[in-house]
Amino acid sequence: MAATQPGLFTARIIRTVRLSQLCRMVVFERPPGFPDAAPGQFIALRVTGTISPLLRRPYSIMDMRAGELELLVKVVGTGSGLIADAPTGSAMEIAGPLGGTSFPAPGDRPAVLAAGGAGLAPLIFAARTWRRAGHAGRIELVYGSECDDELPAMLCGDDFSAVHRATIDGSCGYCGDAVQLLETLLAGGNLGSGILYSCGPRGMVRALQRRAAAGFKRHFTSLEAVMACGVGACRGCAVPLLGPDGPPFAAVCSDGTVFDAAAIDWEGWDE
Ligand code: FES
Repeated sequence: MAATQPGLFTARIIRTVRLSQLCRMVVFERPPGFPDAAPGQFIALRVTGTISPLLRRPYSIMDMRAGELELLVKVVGTGSGLIADAPTGSAMEIAGPLGGTSFPAPGDRPAVLAAGGAGLAPLIFAARTWRRAGHAGRIELVYGSECDDELPAMLCGDDFSAVHRATIDGSCGYCGDAVQLLETLLAGGNLGSGILYSCGPRGMVRALQRRAAAGFKRHFTSLEAVMACGVGACRGCAVPLLGPDGPPFAAVCSDGTVFDAAAIDWEGWDE
């Protein structure tokens, strides 16, 4: 369980690395007083001095080390484009670390991390955090993207025992999506019966829970959701949970972002 007190900070970009046509690693100087964060926590970001986009945008933390705060930014619109194109030295407002839960370490079990798109970020943070803590067990990554160019290959380095890639257009690795690839690997006996960790589009995570989770002891997922307040106040990011007296709702931003995927009412969660 993450236990940090969030705050509002101003942070400056110290470098931006182009990972692919759409993806950037944006590295901020860690603001003084910014608390330690855990994998699955996020920040809400706004370009200082602008009103467009007005709301802060949530970004999973991809790493924190040596006085730096790393984000993975995929350019999908105006807000992400402003952040991706901001020059070194730009100041941005950061609220965080946000999120009340984090990915638990796998202990002595193998870990399989399944990511789609920008869902790679919290899983990278998890793998690096566990390795830095001395975890020597198997950590395998299953990553799905539309095409080869969307894979931030330079991020998927020594922290992983193996990297399995899937692309929808077949330009790299398995031709299909991450769920199909994971099913194929499980059917071939090529993955250990360990713990599944996931982050990506809701349809991907729902399919993982329906079609692949039975091959693992547990499935923890960091949920993506549209967020306004980021602190559990507006209830705009509600996710239905399974319960004996009807589905209670949890807030992805403050009760998560990490949930036991078996506790989520996937059928009752509208798109
Ligand atoms: Fe407001 Fe989660 S974004 S409750």
